[in-house]
Amino acid sequence: MSDLSRELVERIRSVVSKSELGNEPRPVNLHEPEIDELEKKYVLECLDSTFVSSVGAFIPQLEERIQNITGAKHAVAVSNGTVGLQVALFLAGVEYGDEVIVPTLSFIATANAVSHAGAVPHFIDSELGSMGMSPAALRAALEACVRENGVLINPETGRRIAAISPMHTLGHPVKIEEICAIAAEFDVPVVEDAAESLGSFVTNSAGDLQHTGTFGLTSMISFNGNKIVTTGGGGVILTNDDELGRRAKHLTTTAKLPHKWEFEHDEIAWNYRMPNLNAALGMAQLDKYPRFLEQKRRLALAYGEAFADVEGLKFVFEPEGTMSNYWLCAVQLDEPSLEKRDELMQACHDAGLLVRPMWNLLHKQRMYAGAPVGDVATATALHASLICLPSTPRLAQGL
Ligand SMILES: Cc1ncc(COP(=O)(O)O)c(C=O)c1O
Repeated sequence: MSDLSRELVERIRSVVSKSELGNEPRPVNLHEPEIDELEKKYVLECLDSTFVSSVGAFIPQLEERIQNITGAKHAVAVSNGTVGLQVALFLAGVEYGDEVIVPTLSFIATANAVSHAGAVPHFIDSELGSMGMSPAALRAALEACVRENGVLINPETGRRIAAISPMHTLGHPVKIEEICAIAAEFDVPVVEDAAESLGSFVTNSAGDLQHTGTFGLTSMISFNGNKIVTTGGGGVILTNDDELGRRAKHLTTTAKLPHKWEFEHDEIAWNYRMPNLNAALGMAQLDKYPRFLEQKRRLALAYGEAFADVEGLKFVFEPEGTMSNYWLCAVQLDEPSLEKRDELMQACHDAGLLVRPMWNLLHKQRMYAGAPVGDVATATALHASLICLPSTPRLAQGL
């Protein structure tokens, strides 16, 4: 085992071993949801009500709670984040045959949602500070476009640039105000993939803390089992636009016109509703959300201290001017190297610490081999240098 591998294992252990969870005779997972009596109580209440499906009291409660946390005017609960992002793109005007600019360093759903909306992802680079979409790369991609009859066209593909979809990587806010300003210059809507960033805020230009997912025209947050708050499977579409908020609800609930018995639908729409059963689970999680957020941040602080003097790698702190939920804590190698990264990960796994790399770059996934892609040198370096650490909130016990 190399010195750096030994160091990495020891430093992670020094943090996680302060908690009961980190000392159990089993591997330490990347992220575990905390499910106990409160979740059972709410889910049982839901079962007893028999409203287990697409209507029920927990759904509007969950939507209201998310509005309160994020400050978004509208929150519409859906069955998962991927379909939420698809609808968020559709609401922003993305149509069949369009192109949507996305970061290549992201989870597959960022690109798949674009495909499901009928469009083609156009992959661009990330920047080091936030690990998210690079404003400079965005500007370069937009400046390379031409305007034909008022429509912004990528001359390489002939397709309309219909939206820009930045993502808040591992919960760390992307440079969203800068991205929105560039997008506005070129008159292209921003659809935020805020899947990972419930509880992450940016100090905006007015000096106020503003939640991620409330800067773009529309956005999505995921409640998948590995997120800071889970509904089992689920997500929410956010928007501050009243008409889009109304349409988000209408389109994700089969576009049925309200009537006591008639089945009249005014559009071809989706059944993407979050079941009440999932919302019940989510409400218990949201009751615990302030503690989860505090624990994630406390764990990050402890990792930050533990890695302060390690030569060869550093802990990834929240970008300046932001408050991250530290959904997944991460370390970054000074010298990007897939070989070194994998050697370190192997040592951690051998020691029962289930660390994880970043996702494979999206432009390299076989389905997207022919999609437009810019210079992605920084994303390539980040992919070869980041390792995500065990980040279950309960690991902060005893810190
Ligand atoms: C960046 C990103 N986008 C989209 C998604 C999709 O969310 P879901 O799994 O709820 O469909 C996820 C997480 O799963 C994600 O991490």
